[in-house]
Amino acid sequence: MTREMFTEHYFAHVHEFMATARAEEPVFLTTSVSGVPTWVVTRYDDVRALLTDDRLSKDSERLTELLRAKMIEAGREPQLHAGFGKSMLNADPPDHTRLRLLLAKDFTARRVARLRPFTEQLTDNLLAALATEDGPVDVVDGFAVALPAMVISELLGVPAADRHEFQAWTGALLTGDPAEYMPANDAVVAYLNRLIAAKTAEPGDDLLSAMTKAEEGDRLSPDEVLAMALLLLIAGHETTANLISAGIRRLLTEPELAEKLLADPAAVVEELLRIDSPVMLATSRFTTSDVEVGGVTIPAGELVALSVGSANRDEERFPNSAEFDLERGARGHVGFGHGLHHCLGAPLARLEAEVALTAFARQFPDARLAVPAEELPHRRATIMNGYSEMPLVLGARA
Ligand code: HEM
Repeated sequence: MTREMFTEHYFAHVHEFMATARAEEPVFLTTSVSGVPTWVVTRYDDVRALLTDDRLSKDSERLTELLRAKMIEAGREPQLHAGFGKSMLNADPPDHTRLRLLLAKDFTARRVARLRPFTEQLTDNLLAALATEDGPVDVVDGFAVALPAMVISELLGVPAADRHEFQAWTGALLTGDPAEYMPANDAVVAYLNRLIAAKTAEPGDDLLSAMTKAEEGDRLSPDEVLAMALLLLIAGHETTANLISAGIRRLLTEPELAEKLLADPAAVVEELLRIDSPVMLATSRFTTSDVEVGGVTIPAGELVALSVGSANRDEERFPNSAEFDLERGARGHVGFGHGLHHCLGAPLARLEAEVALTAFARQFPDARLAVPAEELPHRRATIMNGYSEMPLVLGARA
């Protein structure tokens, strides 16, 4: 039996959907939005184990071939756009190891720490701009989406003069509407290619320059730098936006949370990553041999989606999983994945969420939702989990 996902009802009730699956059929077959049969794994132990199982592959060439064949089999036109392309997210060792090490060398804890003052200033500017608007403001568009886009621009070294345009394209990439994101995708690729050429000729102290710098030994090719920049842009944008808006929603519906956040922002952000995981399904993997999991045998050559968002609400691992509880210690959540592909941007995401949420809680103690929380619209983004809009009445600025 297959379970239907990605309907209006699914997006509005994803946690209930996953709770039912965990109880009734923890490993099930569904049909992806491109019409391809996909196995979904929902329980914590299974998800965590498969995230480190080398019988599951992410090799981009074989994955693309498999997707194409399955789309034809399903009677669909095989339209595959570059997406993460040949980035390390779609690679197995040894290619993955090489690419990840080359990025990690430049995307260091020091580089992330250096972004803190920028992030704080930007947060204050965005909140100040929101406060000047009359009537309800959309905190998703005006804050949660804008902040990570601009932080990534700063990280990559997008010149100030281009940021407005760059942000418009990256915003369009999140719309979920091919008519908007396809041209935006082309524009971003063309822009990044020009920027990479400019940084190669005249390096600055940004991450893109560091990635293009000629050094002795192995380094990234221009195509690999482009794939990496696109990956950072895509992986670090909607995810962080979803985390910030989920945090604001909780601040507004759980009044005692603000005090806890100001006392221990790191703990609050960690529990948020667990309970409101910005990523619902890890990116595609496929089986290279038969894999037995949760009483089911997934045959070789099948697509698998590991639900990290569901795993993080598995009662077996996190009792009272729908309760926001700082005492539980959210450590061990798989909101950033696990194993080889564990999120490389996790320190930056944590920094952005801590800065954004503490500033919001401090500056707008009287803010309230302009619509009932149950009516907030969800993004229709297949692997993500978040709000597409959140109208607020901000109240006086403290
Ligand atoms: C990988 C979540 C923010 C860069 C991942 C994965 C998850 C994830 C679940 C693993 C995907 C898989 O195994 O299929 C998140 C969440 C974020 C966030 C929840 C925000 C709250 C960021 C940021 C950046 C970033 C800000 C960088 C600017 C990456 C990269 C990978 C990755 C480069 C691929 C790592 C690899 O393949 O080895 N992220 N991410 N992420 N993330 Fe994040």
